[in-house]
Amino acid sequence: MDLKGIYMASASRYAQSEQLYARCGHSGVMLPKVSLGFWHNFGGVDPYERSRAMTHYAFDHGITHFDLANNYGPPYGSAEDTFGRLMEDDFRPYRDELFISTKAGYDMWEGPYGDHGSRKYLIASLDQSLKRMKLDYVDLFYSHRFDPDTPIEETLQAMVDIVRAGKALYLGISNWPLEPLKQAVTYLREHDAPLLIYQGRLNMLHQNPIEEGILAFCKEQGIGFIAYSPLAQGLLTERYLEGIPADSRMAKDKFLHPYNRTDKLLGYLHELQAQASAHGKTIAQEALAWILAQEGVTSVLVGASSVKQLETNLHAVL
Ligand SMILES: NC(=O)c1ccc[n+]([C@@H]2O[C@H](COP(=O)([O-])OP(=O)(O)OC[C@H]3O[C@@H](n4cnc5c(N)ncnc54)[C@H](OP(=O)(O)O)[C@@H]3O)[C@@H](O)[C@H]2O)c1
Repeated sequence: MDLKGIYMASASRYAQSEQLYARCGHSGVMLPKVSLGFWHNFGGVDPYERSRAMTHYAFDHGITHFDLANNYGPPYGSAEDTFGRLMEDDFRPYRDELFISTKAGYDMWEGPYGDHGSRKYLIASLDQSLKRMKLDYVDLFYSHRFDPDTPIEETLQAMVDIVRAGKALYLGISNWPLEPLKQAVTYLREHDAPLLIYQGRLNMLHQNPIEEGILAFCKEQGIGFIAYSPLAQGLLTERYLEGIPADSRMAKDKFLHPYNRTDKLLGYLHELQAQASAHGKTIAQEALAWILAQEGVTSVLVGASSVKQLETNLHAVL
């Protein structure tokens, strides 16, 4: 911040570009190997100044990619509202240095048109997202999940049309199984809106994209892969070694639960901690480095509830 309280991005934000950026598949897009997700800690219930400090730290260190979705919050939509406020307060001069994604596919508003994969939902949802985020376009729009009840061509054509309308520059797919993913790749390529990236849950505890052949398929097709919940929502860190901190995600017992903290996990974490400290690293850094070492992975999409956590996570690559 300068003396008038105006955010001035660090002049050295691209100093470590060589270590930080990776090409996203066979595209022209470079992404930071550590990207920042807005699922938790950026909602209307979270302190704005803390969210703001994390985005400043991120951008000041070259983290140019922020990932959102229509229903991140809580309440739904409020992480995008927070982003919109950050745009107004701080990031407008840097719009072209940012790579911003949002998604639609899960429940967002009431009634038959606020969920799943219809053209009606995806297009209306992105229009709402752009308003909340105070953006003319997003860099990347995702189908958040596969909807087996909507014809696949309807979902995919809506995505193509979103690009045609200039509301998104690139397309992504998240959580789709391999077979429909293959159809999507063909359809989008044939319609000149090739798939840029796949977003899937990948970490040392959940390796489905590897086991199901999704990561290998993406690599073979020149599609980038970004790993979400790379720290298994905080399980793959020191956070729960001694108990359940009151301010932790597990204490909220919504997406992460006390029953996830098993003796088996703690045994594994102690082994991992020994391995990490032999490398001069934390558990989180070891866990992130493991993902980034998998062939075909472009970026790890971390969450954080403090600048300190983000700093630790970034040091997995810098
Ligand atoms: N496409 C999808 O369906 C989908 C699904 C889930 C997530 N995502 C995306 O992926 C992003 C990341 O997901 P995630 O938040 O589950 O990621 P994560 O990085 O696995 O977990 C983040 C949480 O771990 C803890 N943490 C992070 N760094 C730490 C450190 N260095 N030391 C100790 N604890 C640490 C914090 O928990 P505390 O809050 O307890 O401090 C933080 O909130 C989301 O924001 C979203 O953009 C996408």
